[in-house]
Amino acid sequence: MSKEPKINIFYTLLAILLIFIAAYFVYNNFFQTKTEEPSLSIVERTKYDNIRVYTQENKLNDDRSLLHISYPISENDDVNRVIEGISQDFISEFERVAREQEEFYQNYKKDTGQEAVSSRAEYVQHFDVSFASSKYLLFHIYQYRSTGGTGSDDVISLFFDRQSGKRLSLAYLFSSDKYLEVLAEKSRKILEEKSLESISMSDFEKESHYEEWLKMRDEQIREGTEPRLENFNSFEISDENDLVIIFDKYQVGPGSDGVISIKIPLTDLADILSEEMKDLFNIVEEEKQEEKKEEIPKVEESEPDLEADKNSGNKKINCRVDKCVALTFDDGPSVYTDELLDILKENDVKATFFVLGRSAKIQGDTIERMVIEGHDVGNHSFDHKDLRTLNEEGLAFQIKETSDLISSLANYKVKLLRPPYGAYNEDLLSKLDMPLILWSIDPEDWKDRDRDIVLARMSEARAGDIILAHDIYPTTISAIPELIRNLKAKGLNFVSISDLVGEENLKGGTVIRNQSIIL
Ligand code: NI
Repeated sequence: MSKEPKINIFYTLLAILLIFIAAYFVYNNFFQTKTEEPSLSIVERTKYDNIRVYTQENKLNDDRSLLHISYPISENDDVNRVIEGISQDFISEFERVAREQEEFYQNYKKDTGQEAVSSRAEYVQHFDVSFASSKYLLFHIYQYRSTGGTGSDDVISLFFDRQSGKRLSLAYLFSSDKYLEVLAEKSRKILEEKSLESISMSDFEKESHYEEWLKMRDEQIREGTEPRLENFNSFEISDENDLVIIFDKYQVGPGSDGVISIKIPLTDLADILSEEMKDLFNIVEEEKQEEKKEEIPKVEESEPDLEADKNSGNKKINCRVDKCVALTFDDGPSVYTDELLDILKENDVKATFFVLGRSAKIQGDTIERMVIEGHDVGNHSFDHKDLRTLNEEGLAFQIKETSDLISSLANYKVKLLRPPYGAYNEDLLSKLDMPLILWSIDPEDWKDRDRDIVLARMSEARAGDIILAHDIYPTTISAIPELIRNLKAKGLNFVSISDLVGEENLKGGTVIRNQSIIL
């Protein structure tokens, strides 16, 4: 009698346990299939179809002034011309400002015998694609100017008809003339709410102070959002189909807030959007969106030939015995990288690419090709920041974002880091878990855009050397076929960095300049 309930409890507990075990497996399986999906969606990859990266770097006055720019190149020459024009203005401004800063630097040195350390210019321009279809292209150019110690950020929106090459304004999105009034009203509401997030009445000594602050704030927001086109000329379309409006520094808030952006879901604007835009951004059916994706013109792609790659170079090179040299390329991928990859493949040469995350994101197909064709891919930061100047958060972003991106693009684990400008210090070294790869041969190909000069300097390389080059300059790339012939004639084998120094020597916090100089 007394045994029966016990048995019942036993079986009930057993049943519950089994259910838990089953649920655990179902959940786990489900969870795993979810995380195995590539983190970059198809939309993100196709967004960059037919877009290549043009990059240029310049250092002036003993590196006191630095320029680093990139801009998109598309299939439409008219679009390209507009973007080149904007970029050329930015470069000219840099050259002028750098000259002024240098003049001040030299005069100050003459007068006081001291160095004016902040007398320098740093100009950085990069871009991203916000939206792309077969018909439209929406880019953003981000410009950073730092002069004499103070920096400023700007965003330029460029909206194009991809076929005619005509530049379009925000007005093109809407069918109603009232769109500026609607945007003004919605922006005001969002900005008012936003400004209250960081402040409350208790921050003020007296209620009257709070009211005064409110009045000032309202006035600034109202002025900055007056329904005029120039107040709304910086905009993006987010992947979630929000209209993102970007307000300049000081436009709708204090300078300390910098550039302020707000999001308005396109669905909230449905009644003023043009029919075409409604259709395009698919505030409607799913199948149509699928069609749209396919309409994006495809870049001609030659399928990477895996078999050929496996069969070539059948003799394994051992750099402890054989004479080796490592060819490295920085600042790509760029519009010229695929041509370089063709040359390397034809000559059965393995190299190492130190890529920028920002460009890798756009030319994901090029990164995939590097990995498939057996090259090393290293990290050169996300957008070419001097790593010594960053706080912990900034440093983590520059390195992790880039490595994660490469691993999601090409299923490849990044093990090498080359800091922008080759700049590092002890503090930086102590924070890194990858080796810093520097170089022993520098052809200064960024300075001398001359094939013959660059070729002569690189051809000096001897066994164990690491050659620095940039796959962003056509002059450099045109020197590579002859460089390969010259160095092969000296009995040198081209290998990746990991083959040159050996996987076992790739330790965090070390600095590697050539095969034998490992510090
Ligand atoms: Ni670089």
